[in-house]
Amino acid sequence: MDKLIIEGARKLQGEIRISGAKNAALPLIAATLLAPGWHVIHNVPDLRDTRTILALLETLGAEWKREGSTLLVKTDSLNNFEASYELVKTMRASILVLGPLLARMGKARVSLPGGCAIGARPIDFHLLGLKKMGASLDLEDGYVTASVKKKLSGGTIYFDVPSVTGTENILMAAVLAKGETVIKNAAREPEITNLVDMLISMGARIAGKDTDRLTINGVKSLKPAEITTIPDRIETGTYLIAVGTAGGEANLTHCNPSHLPSLIEKLRAAGLTVKDSGNSIYVSRPAKVQSIDIKTQPYPGFPTDLQAQLMALMSLATGLSVITEAIFENRFMHVAELKRMGAEIKINGNSAIVKGIAQLKGAQVMATDLRASASLVVAGLAAHGVTEISRIYHLERGYEDMAGKLKALGARVRKEKE
Ligand code: EPU
Repeated sequence: MDKLIIEGARKLQGEIRISGAKNAALPLIAATLLAPGWHVIHNVPDLRDTRTILALLETLGAEWKREGSTLLVKTDSLNNFEASYELVKTMRASILVLGPLLARMGKARVSLPGGCAIGARPIDFHLLGLKKMGASLDLEDGYVTASVKKKLSGGTIYFDVPSVTGTENILMAAVLAKGETVIKNAAREPEITNLVDMLISMGARIAGKDTDRLTINGVKSLKPAEITTIPDRIETGTYLIAVGTAGGEANLTHCNPSHLPSLIEKLRAAGLTVKDSGNSIYVSRPAKVQSIDIKTQPYPGFPTDLQAQLMALMSLATGLSVITEAIFENRFMHVAELKRMGAEIKINGNSAIVKGIAQLKGAQVMATDLRASASLVVAGLAAHGVTEISRIYHLERGYEDMAGKLKALGARVRKEKE
């Protein structure tokens, strides 16, 4: 296993290019299961998670090749309909093959994801939705087996709370179903719009793009897609926050500032200079950062995937900050590690109260999930002394070449074997 060593307390300065979004690329790759022919997906980040979903597709009989950041995927000869425990346990998003496999093959068997480091994370919305569309479901031996006699049929599906992968799974199931499917209280994340664009380019009939009500009229067959993965808004946000925490200034290119409305507002309220123009963002930090409060919410609210990183910034701000996590029940695993670096944070229910201090100190830390690890990197860049972050495979699941990008911003970081 590798660890990341950061010599902190150095201002960041420079320009980096933002990669394609992990959470967009995963459903786009899963959607190739819906139609034969070579699908072309541009701007696909080379990450542990994108490699995992490609490995999963290979076990189903798909072929793929990479040409730079362009991925070509062919799913003509699918010969298996099972996503094994071995793959699902390393990446919950493997559940994204359930909808498309059922739509194309009439059958799917997927290992149940179970709990994870950020909470229980059930998949009941995915299953209820598919059931409403006529699927028979059988839960046995830790697997869900879904099947349908002829074809899935349309139905009205209401999500109690908007679910990102739930919306994506039902969308992919509905495009080949008989009749009309309506998803009410659908998630509105930009990654869903990216998937809708891909499905429409394949011939799907979907109305209500960018809204919480999606209407899908099933078609008989689809053709292969050519689509570009949207820029990673969470990677973008992480580097904006890193500059805010360590100080300095940076220009982030190939990103989409309009996908980060709440973060940009909040960073400005904290006193950062954030200038967005088209597909780039400039950020710089004043002498002092002011404390702000945040509450995570579905898009366009503040993303839960940036909560941990913002907490690192608030640990060095002036005043008290209240950070409320309203999406996942157990997403404060970074708090104990930030406290090892000197941060003053108290947890009260689903809120963290952060008292800004003058300096963080480098320490040996370890994280249990991707975004918690990112918050420790952000803290380490600002901390005095050396921070050693263990188990950086978490970071490699979702940040393309993080060490290289940080070096380009002048940070002193290196990877070492543990
Ligand atoms: N929920 C249910 N039942 C379900 C599905 C969801 O109760 O069947 C609940 C969840 O427990 C949670 C809420 O609904 O409280 C929203 O969860 P959602 O389903 O939207 O999460 P997800 O689809 O599993 C995606 C991202 C996560 C991101 C969340 C929230 C992907 C592959 N994953 O997960 O990304 O945190 O949406 O925005 O898109 C990450 O990248 O680090 C990551 C965890």
